[in-house]
Amino acid sequence: MSASAVQGSPKASPIHVEDLHHAYGSVVALDGISFEVGPGECFGLLGPNGAGKTTTILAIVGALRPDRGWVAIQGERDPTRPAVRSRIGVVPQSIAVYADLTGEENLAFFGTLYGLRGARLRERIEMALEFAGLAERRKDRASTYSGGMQRRLNIVCGLLHDPQVILMDEPTVGVDPQSRNLIFENIEALKRLGRTVLYTTHYMEEAQRLCDRVAIVDRGRVLALDRVEGLLRLAPVERPDLEAVFLHLTGTTLRDR
Ligand SMILES: Nc1ncnc2c1ncn2[C@@H]1O[C@H](COP(=O)(O)OP(=O)(O)OP(=O)(O)O)[C@@H](O)[C@H]1O
Ligand SMILES: [Mg+2]
Repeated sequence: MSASAVQGSPKASPIHVEDLHHAYGSVVALDGISFEVGPGECFGLLGPNGAGKTTTILAIVGALRPDRGWVAIQGERDPTRPAVRSRIGVVPQSIAVYADLTGEENLAFFGTLYGLRGARLRERIEMALEFAGLAERRKDRASTYSGGMQRRLNIVCGLLHDPQVILMDEPTVGVDPQSRNLIFENIEALKRLGRTVLYTTHYMEEAQRLCDRVAIVDRGRVLALDRVEGLLRLAPVERPDLEAVFLHLTGTTLRDR
């Protein structure tokens, strides 16, 4: 993806989340989440089912107004303002592409929503098809795509406008190792271009490969936040991996009973 000028306040963190609280009725989803993501950083939100990862992303993009706390994107407190919104790319947890449209038509649709037109839109669509490994299947309906292809299309639909700040909510769920590897390579390419990425997952090895820093979250709280090497020191085992740290901090009780 091509580089474009960094907008907003150059000194402010691309993403700043401060003391977010939110309840859905009696269910407390966020219970005081705070973190900051630096420019060009890939930051992992790692947590079990129901930890509050998606709710945090919804608050960051302004799709949900938290009960308490605030978010800022490059220093701007209102992420719904068009000027701020255009700097954010979101890859939703649920696949959001249209099954009856072809890959190319989906990209044209999302690109138009982001305000792209004419030659710029066509250029971004070509780039996205290459990026996602979908150039040869561009004329086929998304309903005929494999799970991995649909995931890859879902990702590039959120990146067409070349956003500076990218929020990816479990982008690799249900894909095979080949698709997963391509997605990782794409995220690494975005990092090289200086994009800031917030990445949620419950796969430890993903966080370990991709993320500069990781927050382990559970029950709406940040339990630990550090570089992966720092987190590894928290596990009370001889040869720690992130999974051991994760289970040590979040326990072994099932979350989806
Ligand atoms: N719209 C909603 N109405 C009621 N409860 C909700 C709603 N959305 C989320 N919750 C609850 O809020 C808590 C946090 O959910 P959230 O989706 O943010 O977690 P998550 O970390 O994204 O989980 P997962 O890994 O399963 O995607 C959970 O207990 C969930 O059941
Ligand atoms: Mg989620």
